[in-house]
Amino acid sequence: MSKGSHEQSKYPRTLVTAALPYANGPLHLGHLAGAYLPADIYVRYLRLKGEDVIFISGSDEHGVAVTISAEKEGVSPQQIVDRYHAINKASFEKFGMSFDNYSRTTLPVHHQTSQEFFLELYRQNILVEKSEKQLYCEKDRMFLADRYVEGTCPVCGNVDARGDQCENCGTWLEQTQLINPRCKICGTTPVVRETKHWYLPLGRFQKELEEYVNSKKWKENVRGYVDSWLKEGLEDRAITRDLHWGIPVPLHGYENKVIYVWFEAVLGYISSTKELSQKRGEPNLWKRYWQDEGTRYIAFIGKDNIVFHTLIFPAILMAWNEGGKSRYILPDAVPANEFLNFEGKKFSKSRGWGIDLKDFIDIFPPDTLRYALALNLPESRDSDFYWKDFQARVNSELADTLGNFVNRTLQFTQRYYDGRIPPRGKLNNLDKWAVSQMQETPGKVAALFGNFRFRDGVVEAMSLARAANKYFNDSEPWKSRRDNPEQCATTLNICAQLTRSLSILLSPVIPFSAEEIWKMLQLEGTAAQAGWDSAAEMKVEQGREIGRLSILFTKIEDSTIEEQIKKTASGENTEKPATPQAIAPIKAQISIDDFRKVDLRIAEVISCEKVPKSEKLLRIEVQVGEEKRQIVAGISKHYKPEDLIGKSVVIVANLAPAKLMGLESNGMLLAASTDDGKLVVLTTASNIDSGSIVR
Ligand code: MF3
Ligand code: ZN
Repeated sequence: MSKGSHEQSKYPRTLVTAALPYANGPLHLGHLAGAYLPADIYVRYLRLKGEDVIFISGSDEHGVAVTISAEKEGVSPQQIVDRYHAINKASFEKFGMSFDNYSRTTLPVHHQTSQEFFLELYRQNILVEKSEKQLYCEKDRMFLADRYVEGTCPVCGNVDARGDQCENCGTWLEQTQLINPRCKICGTTPVVRETKHWYLPLGRFQKELEEYVNSKKWKENVRGYVDSWLKEGLEDRAITRDLHWGIPVPLHGYENKVIYVWFEAVLGYISSTKELSQKRGEPNLWKRYWQDEGTRYIAFIGKDNIVFHTLIFPAILMAWNEGGKSRYILPDAVPANEFLNFEGKKFSKSRGWGIDLKDFIDIFPPDTLRYALALNLPESRDSDFYWKDFQARVNSELADTLGNFVNRTLQFTQRYYDGRIPPRGKLNNLDKWAVSQMQETPGKVAALFGNFRFRDGVVEAMSLARAANKYFNDSEPWKSRRDNPEQCATTLNICAQLTRSLSILLSPVIPFSAEEIWKMLQLEGTAAQAGWDSAAEMKVEQGREIGRLSILFTKIEDSTIEEQIKKTASGENTEKPATPQAIAPIKAQISIDDFRKVDLRIAEVISCEKVPKSEKLLRIEVQVGEEKRQIVAGISKHYKPEDLIGKSVVIVANLAPAKLMGLESNGMLLAASTDDGKLVVLTTASNIDSGSIVR
């Protein structure tokens, strides 16, 4: 029995979440195909159905994925997440992801929510504290949490498995299971050391989770994973980490540890909903969506996230018990997709394989990608994006089928009916066939969308465009215009109805184009508000005037695609992994006593002039407390004398005097310089008295 759209009506409201992507790099096409596009199609479809739905996501900003990116670039984790949160949020907007809220896990509301959950489970005596063996790098002097350690996967033999998970076979690992582990930072072999952590005892939830899993309908690919984990038996999982970036563990003795990113990231869905409540000025809105049995919760994710959403997150939610009942609702469905590959290979940032959304949008309109990906979603197995396929979909389906039909219809109406929808007379068999296609399609597409079969749903919707084109051809209005004007008017009237219907049915997939069609028809409101079922009805009134025609889809030239294929091959379409600037080698160690020998003081520049006949030197007079001194510094290429006058600088006050071009220099100015020749004199706030000691 398939659980179709009729099942939804049991629930007065739907909560839809899409995985929170790590804000550590730009999103690419694979992300869209894995979770966000299907989720967005689904939400747009439900809204058209008139359902009460909210769509929640945000950036996942903690965890080792972020700190490793930060270290690679030599910047702080905060800088990384600020940058990519902005970039990714903008990309999502440009591609029409219609989130009701897109939050961040670094916000206070999320820290509070996560600590509250952690403490609640702690108080209910669910969490277990254990001292266990973890991998420790003696060189980097740190525990190698999660992705800080790599090694060979004990299940599939992938040599690049990460400490928490093997991306190749999807196995969820304990780091100590890795064969030949190595430190991600320095490459050396870590040692095993004891450390204390809090654990979520998943084994205690095994029975409850089995019952939960058996009570729901899962996609086959998802069920496969879930069953194999349950069969193996669930084990305790550490939910704290020896890291600095993250949400502090709210318990004494854990000051230097944070909550495991996966424990808190899933709770990000709840905090994002809380943020939405605040924005809407409805403080209890989030409770309605998370704590009321009347909510149907659907979590869209990619396949590497399955265990966290089908077992861990439900266990966390179940654990918050009140009066023998779980306080939170559990996911009703987790429609995870497999992976999208790119021209036959995995997307890879390090190998420069793929294309980022932010670059794609500069070249092609968003609907072209939404459409091509929708027909190629990895719903049951991995799928592939090929540039040539993309071009063919856009040219022969969007432009030649949909665009052509809409254009022919509206142009004919413009030219021969003065831009007004002609009247409909008696229907012949061909007309009746076209109308019946229009009446049947919304139900067919709904049954597919309602079951998360978006590819087939889009094919079905598009087949109405094909039928419409055929109807136009077979009706030959260019002939009936002379032989049978009444028939011609009927044809064009029905074509207008089909145009409206297509605009509604395709609006979840190509929302921008759907609204353009709607505008050309000059109908009231928007396609998105028209109501799904009304796509089966003939709502365009005769005599209504249509608007200005615009070109819906432009064909993609071969040369444009060739250029993209070339860029793909040379890796020009992805952001290069940033490398930190090489810095000069650090000098040999000194003791604190060595350092204390240097007397650093604040000095104020009183006068300054170029040393005659020298290109480099400036003669500077400084005030150091009561004392005046002359310093000669080689900074004339970087500073004009007047730039320095009045500045507070730092000098080495006890440097032995030296003579430069005959002038005595008493001390030295501190300045920072780089290999590429930049030089900046260190200045300080001017409200520090000159003569002050710097240490
Ligand atoms: N950040 C994870 C990833 O990109 C997904 C987190 S989903 C969440 O794989 F629910 F946990 F937030
Ligand atoms: Zn190391």
